[in-house]
Amino acid sequence: MFLKNVFSASSLLLVLFFPSLIIAQSKINPYQYTIQKKIECTNGAVVSAHPLASKVGANILKEGGNALDAAIATQLALAVVYPAAGNIGGGGFMIARLANGKNLALDFREKAPAKSTRDMYLDAKGNAQTDLSQNGTLSSGVPGTIAGLFEELKYAKLPFKKLIQPAIDLAEKGFTISAGEANDLNENQDFFKKYNTLTPIFVKATPWKAGDTLIQKDLAKTLMLIRDNGANGFYEGETADLIIGEMKRSNGIINYDDLKNYKAIEREAVVFNYKMDYTIITMPLPASGGVLLPQMMKMIEDQPLSTYGFESVNAVHLMTEVERLSYADRAKYLGDRDFFKVPVKFLTSTSYVFERMKLYDPSKAGNSKDIGSGNVPAEHEETTHLDVYDKYGNAVSITTTLNGGYGSGTVIGKAGFLINNEMDDFSVKPGVPNMYGAVGGEANSIAPGKRMLSSMTPTIVLKNNKPYLVVGTPGGTTITTSVFQTLVDIIDFDMSAEDAVNKPKFHHQWLPDEIFVEKDFPMSVRTELEKMGYKITEREQIGRTEVIKIVNGKITAVGDKRGDDTAEGY
Ligand code: DON
Repeated sequence: MFLKNVFSASSLLLVLFFPSLIIAQSKINPYQYTIQKKIECTNGAVVSAHPLASKVGANILKEGGNALDAAIATQLALAVVYPAAGNIGGGGFMIARLANGKNLALDFREKAPAKSTRDMYLDAKGNAQTDLSQNGTLSSGVPGTIAGLFEELKYAKLPFKKLIQPAIDLAEKGFTISAGEANDLNENQDFFKKYNTLTPIFVKATPWKAGDTLIQKDLAKTLMLIRDNGANGFYEGETADLIIGEMKRSNGIINYDDLKNYKAIEREAVVFNYKMDYTIITMPLPASGGVLLPQMMKMIEDQPLSTYGFESVNAVHLMTEVERLSYADRAKYLGDRDFFKVPVKFLTSTSYVFERMKLYDPSKAGNSKDIGSGNVPAEHEETTHLDVYDKYGNAVSITTTLNGGYGSGTVIGKAGFLINNEMDDFSVKPGVPNMYGAVGGEANSIAPGKRMLSSMTPTIVLKNNKPYLVVGTPGGTTITTSVFQTLVDIIDFDMSAEDAVNKPKFHHQWLPDEIFVEKDFPMSVRTELEKMGYKITEREQIGRTEVIKIVNGKITAVGDKRGDDTAEGY
């Protein structure tokens, strides 16, 4: 049900020597680099899923770029060095807090193609065919990442050519892959063979191993087209021809107009207060965190969480029930507001949230059969995360995705990039779970041009009105609960950023009615929770959370232990 581990290998030292090939940007050797989990510094920091991408971003900061410049360069580098999730064929969201106090919320989520229909993944008998919504080009939404990057550029300082060049160099000259990356490529060989019409570079006769060099010439060429022609280098001309060619050779339905008409949207950030000192800034719909995070934080705000303590039975019970209540609403009410009237104000109002909390019984586990979504009055009608903070005081939080690991599995022939399988984030049929087990209904049904509901929750927390935390993670439906837990761990349990990132996480999403826990989640707490009536299911890693914390000018950036995530700064 959940996305299998992507890059689960822990830290390693890559030692292969090609010292003559150093990428354009100074001081980065793509054939020899180390993973760094934490950095403390005062000027600026970048944390992302890959050491080379974090280094690219940090160098941009050192060269005078701001957080937006660094975020763009990091995102583009991730599209090369982290093909499972970093992307130009997917989409995502950005939250930023600019030094001048302006909040930005940028939506570059994929859209359903014009030819999509509500029941396009149902067979003649009305059964859901999730293999079609999850694999190959029929599962692809119209990509938004490149449109998003050019919106971000409006707030950047340096020329785009400078920001994209490190990615071009990494694609053209190659970089050394880690054990985790080799393993993921090997595990996906059959997937690539099945869903490609032209053999992609990821398919190899002998297994990939740590230290191999991955060169992506086609991708380098596509990136050069974008460097020289801007967003049109992707949505029109040669790249558009290659995308449409791939659609025609397979069963895809994205057409030229879909590409040409794609627009990233600047939305109004969701901003709410938590306790006395904190202001939380997060992404609105179609990112579900914009409703669920305020709901969950408001539900716990007046509860004695810090007295309960981290990983105490009472705390896990309370947070689980809060997650259950919110995810039940997600299934019924949340979707793209441009297509479906979502009662956001009502769902996040204090009175509604307090009413919902009446269903919470501190002494026993709730039950998703009895606890459904709330009543709204009739009149209301694969992924990766990066954080940047710069010396000017700008903070950026971006989550971007192909949906599943390596997205649809299809590399656009001769263009060298993977295209997403984001259509599965729609509710393909009411009640049928998507690949993360999430169910939905009319609010999140497929319609041409509609954006599929997302769990991505890029978030920035201000303390006394100054940037304090920059947070986010991949992990499908676990994203919102991981961000929730990370905020609670740091704010309520007074934990270090490092512990908040790395200590075991848990997750409840209403349906299925169980608490998912990571392997290192304490047995004694599991036993107590089972006695209260909970079903506990152990699963692979939950997310790969990145955090930057800023206190009195001191920056601490932490990359998750669960992958090759790296923090850089100066
Ligand atoms: O937007 C969403 O909610 C999903 N497409 C995110 C997928 C994801 O996080 C995969 N990574 N582990």
